[in-house]
Amino acid sequence: MGGIFGFVCRNEEPISKLKEGLRRLVYRGYDGVGYSFFNGELKVRKSPLQVDKADIFSGSAKVAIGHTRYASRGWPTMENTHPILDCKGKIAVVMDGIIEDYEKLRDELKARGHNFVTTTDTEVIPHLLEEIDPKDILRIKGMYSLAYLTEEEKDKIFFIQSGQPLYIGIGKGECTFISSDIPSLYGFSEEALEVPDSSYGFVTYNVFKVFDNQGREIKDIKSRKVKYTPEIAEKAGYPHFMLKEIYEIPEAIIRSFESLMDKYLRLSAMIIYSAKHVYVVGNGTSYHAGLVSSYYLSENGIGVNVVSSAEFPYFALDNVGVGDVVVAISQSGETGDVVRSIKAAKMRGSVILGITNSVGSRLALESNVYLPITAGPEMAVPATKTFTSTLIVLLALSNYVGMMSGKKDEGDFNRLKISIKDLSESLEKRMDEISSKAKEIAEKVYKHEGLYVSSSGINFPISLEGALKFKEAAYLHAEGIQLGELLHGPIVLTNMGYPTVIVRPAEDASIPLYEKVLDRIASKNNVVTLGPEESFGSVKTSKELSPIANIVPLQLLAYYTGVKRGTPIDTPAGLVKAVIT
Ligand code: AGP
Repeated sequence: MGGIFGFVCRNEEPISKLKEGLRRLVYRGYDGVGYSFFNGELKVRKSPLQVDKADIFSGSAKVAIGHTRYASRGWPTMENTHPILDCKGKIAVVMDGIIEDYEKLRDELKARGHNFVTTTDTEVIPHLLEEIDPKDILRIKGMYSLAYLTEEEKDKIFFIQSGQPLYIGIGKGECTFISSDIPSLYGFSEEALEVPDSSYGFVTYNVFKVFDNQGREIKDIKSRKVKYTPEIAEKAGYPHFMLKEIYEIPEAIIRSFESLMDKYLRLSAMIIYSAKHVYVVGNGTSYHAGLVSSYYLSENGIGVNVVSSAEFPYFALDNVGVGDVVVAISQSGETGDVVRSIKAAKMRGSVILGITNSVGSRLALESNVYLPITAGPEMAVPATKTFTSTLIVLLALSNYVGMMSGKKDEGDFNRLKISIKDLSESLEKRMDEISSKAKEIAEKVYKHEGLYVSSSGINFPISLEGALKFKEAAYLHAEGIQLGELLHGPIVLTNMGYPTVIVRPAEDASIPLYEKVLDRIASKNNVVTLGPEESFGSVKTSKELSPIANIVPLQLLAYYTGVKRGTPIDTPAGLVKAVIT
């Protein structure tokens, strides 16, 4: 996965242009950067570092394609950095996205004599291009867009688009650009042409051609104005990374689900199912995801202890030993408390199952087995899309555990896939509407000194996570609280006008409690209810997916409250993305 940028020009242009484009795409991945160009023959320069640290950009070229990598398949090493070559070094490919059946394709290609040097899914593409046409590549399952150079036609950039965005920028007759997003084209091109799904084609410095999967030329290509400042360009047109990343949730949850591989899910589920005790550890948002997992796993026959990694070494570790499993969740994979916890548990003979968004992280390295979150890079300190994608991974894993305990079957797993797709589509459709409502509520909330977020059952951890977002993004004190506990004291403040967001529980059994609490609140002036049919309307979905449906409005509300309060939303003071010490 990652970001693609390339140019093809009438005359030689400095490679620094490519660097600038890639720098703007760093939000799509920073696990390595590289590019290809022609200097007589096809050349490749790459580095496992991020664009600004990689000393590889120099000289000029008429044609060049580059890539900034998010390591979703294969470690962040030099070999795995794009561009990736065919057997003879005559085709160079950069890719954004994932290929589903790559292991099978890879075995088949190897059997036909192709030589593989990376552990990426991308590598199947240059080898396939040695054998088949781009049109036939479109039959490969997955969500990807890719660009390639071939020694056979040195005046062109070729591309293939299968469900991942790719744009063509027209640069006043002298150059044509390709990029993974529109804002990165700012200053290079005034309009961006959207390469349609399931198509392929090429660009020269003054011509572009796009064909559908039947080989018919597509003439009607959607065009959009490129109109961002460089600062906004880095955020793909959004004012803050946090908002951009919330808007990416519908796409990310699908990708996270699709990226999970059966054999690792099976192995992970077996480890959990056969464990004496299961501990789930993580900090902050990852800890909250762990709390949700206790509901998922308990429904599938497994009771777990969820412990903050900050406390794990002090109160849980003494009981951990051989036969136990520690499920460690960390989007960065670098959080000090998490790494310390798993090292200590490993020393005592436990098995570590890591769940991380960073496959080259300490957590991934230290784990006996790990599952990737595949949410894409998250730049804002307040975690949003990594939380929802972590829930998807935990839910898929729990379903596999359920298949072992006899609580679930394959049909349930297929239904889960459909529900995730439906949720993604509904979120996508309703994101603007939920955003407007969140903005409207933020107008009331922002002046207050704090608020409660409350729920019961599987959405109780969502009240903790929602409250955390208000603290980080809006500098507003917030408390996540169990619905029943509101009645034991805190309701006093609610009655005095303290803003209280109540998430309608997803369990039928909790509805009488929900109604009782609402009934007991004397003054409802500042009470907001959140749920599919409540005044703050979330998307309707299954009980298991309701934490995702409900956290999105809360994230948006915290975001807009931060906007009103003028806080540095993406970079709260004194906080960093990964607390590594
Ligand atoms: C989330 O919004 C916070 N920035 C923070 O609580 C974070 O979740 C925590 O530090 C854990 O990070 P990790 O998932 O990278 O381990």
